[in-house]
Amino acid sequence: MTSFRVGVFNGDYIGPEIMTEALKILGAISKKYHHEFVLQPLEASGEAFDKYGKHLPEHTLKAAAECDALLKGPFGGPPEELNHPKWAGVEKEAILPLRKHFNLYTNLRETKVLEPISDLSPIKPDIVSGTNILIVRELTSGIYFGPKNSTVVNGERESSDLEVYKESEIRRIARNAFTYALGRKKKVTLVAKSNVLVSSVLWREVTGEVAREFPDVSFDYMHVDNAAMQLILNPRQFDVILTNNIFGDILSDEASVLSGSIGLFPSASLGDSSFGLYEPIHGSAPSIAGKNIANPISAILSAALMLRYSFKCEQEALDIERAVETVLQNGYRTEDLALSASSSQKVVGTREMGDLIAKEIR
Ligand code: IPM
Ligand code: MG
Repeated sequence: MTSFRVGVFNGDYIGPEIMTEALKILGAISKKYHHEFVLQPLEASGEAFDKYGKHLPEHTLKAAAECDALLKGPFGGPPEELNHPKWAGVEKEAILPLRKHFNLYTNLRETKVLEPISDLSPIKPDIVSGTNILIVRELTSGIYFGPKNSTVVNGERESSDLEVYKESEIRRIARNAFTYALGRKKKVTLVAKSNVLVSSVLWREVTGEVAREFPDVSFDYMHVDNAAMQLILNPRQFDVILTNNIFGDILSDEASVLSGSIGLFPSASLGDSSFGLYEPIHGSAPSIAGKNIANPISAILSAALMLRYSFKCEQEALDIERAVETVLQNGYRTEDLALSASSSQKVVGTREMGDLIAKEIR
């Protein structure tokens, strides 16, 4: 029996509800494939702030470093409390430092239009159907981490955030993007803004050099404004999109709605080892917390990505993805997926969705 140590951040608001379902699925996988998952609870964000006055305490980072991978629920508070110290610092005190501390520079966000729910897409089915895009987003550098400054110049407030990339930071993630493309449709599109930004010129140069190391993968380039438009006009043209931190943040939200709900999508954040952080791409949805209506599929598919990338359990990951598709195929929907009400659909709660997927795995 193989044993894996999984660090678990429950997250805020709907976080604990959807994590419970992800762990239910890991339990089903453990039974079927005889793996042991040792769960290590990790304190961060709202609960850590209440207890220790810190969003990411030192002891949490230490315990996380002992794990083989981290499974994380969404962090964050309700919009009306965003200036409260409990929530104001979540991004800068917990989310970004967690990524940086473990050097998780490659963020993978895959948008797949799942056939059973392709009618949920706001885009016409003949345009979106068959879409499958992997966004490879740089996660530990660029404008999120570059020097910041706020000052007063001639009596006026002035602020700046700097976009800074080193050649080595671009090269390592570009190589990862081309490697993922080899296992897909063998196409990488670099998205940047090289008509204006010198940092984008560097991305183009370095990625062009990396492309020559991968003669079997086709490489093209698109300015980010055009890419935002092409994602809606003709999403099937994309296979792997490689981009910087901030463009990847924006384009991944845009791409996620092609499928109809952001409640479906997981992400993986990886560094140079098999260690990784796995989490939904959506937020903590305070308005629907505690009602058993949140969609747990994003957390469940995050567990599948953990099995694939950190534990090299491809079969198990595919089993979870198949189970999710089958349950959707059978007409079961959480509320977010049931907007176009039809009589063949059965609306179920968070727990029931988890049960159905677990049953499908057994
Ligand atoms: C994301 C989020 C974060 C980001 C925020 C919460 C800091 O939007 O993971 O996409 O911008 O990276
Ligand atoms: Mg985002």
